[in-house]
Amino acid sequence: MILVTGGAGFIGSNFILDWLAQCDEPVLNLDKLTYAGNPDNLASLAGDPRHVFVKGDICDAALVTGLLARYQPRAILNFAAESHVDRSIHGPRDFVTTNVNGTFTLLEAARAHWQGLAGEDKRAFRFLQVSTDEVYGTLGPDEGPFTETTAYAPNSPYAASKAAADHLVRAWHHTYGMPTLSTNCSNNYGPCQFPEKLIPLVITNARQGKSLPVYGDGQQVRDWLYVADHCAAIRRVLEAGRCGDTYNVGGWNEMANLDVVRKLCGLLDELAPKAAGSYLEQILHVQDRPGHDRRYAIDARKIERELGWKPLETFDTGIRKTVAWYLAHDDWVRHVQSGDYLGWMDTNYAHRDTQEEIG
Ligand code: NAD
Ligand code: TYD
Repeated sequence: MILVTGGAGFIGSNFILDWLAQCDEPVLNLDKLTYAGNPDNLASLAGDPRHVFVKGDICDAALVTGLLARYQPRAILNFAAESHVDRSIHGPRDFVTTNVNGTFTLLEAARAHWQGLAGEDKRAFRFLQVSTDEVYGTLGPDEGPFTETTAYAPNSPYAASKAAADHLVRAWHHTYGMPTLSTNCSNNYGPCQFPEKLIPLVITNARQGKSLPVYGDGQQVRDWLYVADHCAAIRRVLEAGRCGDTYNVGGWNEMANLDVVRKLCGLLDELAPKAAGSYLEQILHVQDRPGHDRRYAIDARKIERELGWKPLETFDTGIRKTVAWYLAHDDWVRHVQSGDYLGWMDTNYAHRDTQEEIG
């Protein structure tokens, strides 16, 4: 079996569903169920013996060591993280705890486990770290995209904590010979993404008649990748990646935030029209995020050249599927929009002055 951490979150749950749709190798899912972990994402696996769920923390060394001894996974895929940049600005502590100390704890437990293996089991064991393009910092408008050799220059507490974790993974390979793999992916979107991130936030706010908050001038650029394509890339890296290597994963799809928001409004106007007017009228420019990175772009040629991975979805096909999924899953949205999330909306948006309304 494989051990997936953070498998109740957005990408982890998509990964587990895709994995079990393609093969019968069981998945042990270790997730703390923070506000971002949602068992509803895996409801379709209820009663499926191929999915073993353990509620627990990757910082809990005894728990992780016990799970490795009991289940003997052939690979650990570390998705577990605090993942939202704005939250990391308001409260960085959990980011250091989970993203840095948690990865350290996993690496140490994995190292002891791996060193106790022999023969083919030892040779085949893998530790795969799921990371982000944000560790590379920000690009100017005319700079080339991030490659695997771009120097790390993280700017937010989130990015810095992920960068620190990546450095630990690198050192555990270099020093101990641990069979590690790393992926650095651009912004994902798709089903089951918590509605604090731009795309699901805009879809859910639009439907609920709320404003669509665009930070600053909305000209910050991100590269967007449909989540199923990211999951396929991770499967491919696990299968054939070279130990110690990192692989950049991206969609070749750079877009300014305001264009993403306008695109979403256009799709909603088509698929769920309002009684009168357009969702575009709900766009609201608000105060920018402190230290906001201006542009991310990924050069994904290495994973294509060496492992034959390419995204299957274009932004047009992926975003249409995503909007359709949210429109069909009102219950899911209602369920996650409670408790911590409502408190978060007050914390993050209350202090942002409105800059300008546009139609
Ligand atoms: P998410 O916030 O939706 O999910 C994170 C999951 O980790 C949740 O289920 C949460 O309960 C769990 N978790 C948090 N702390 C934990 C702990 N201490 N122990 C065990 N479980 C814990 O995040 P996501 O968007 O699915 O991202 C998954 C991974 O992919 C992260 O490592 C993130 O850095 C990386 N990544 C995300 C993106 C993106 O666009 N979302 C892009 C590139 C890389
Ligand atoms: P986000 O989805 O938080 O991902 P990340 O910060 O990891 O890239 O944000 C994507 C972009 O959208 C980022 O440039 C910030 C911007 N943004 C807004 O303009 N308004 C919002 O309400 C949010 C949440 C993000």
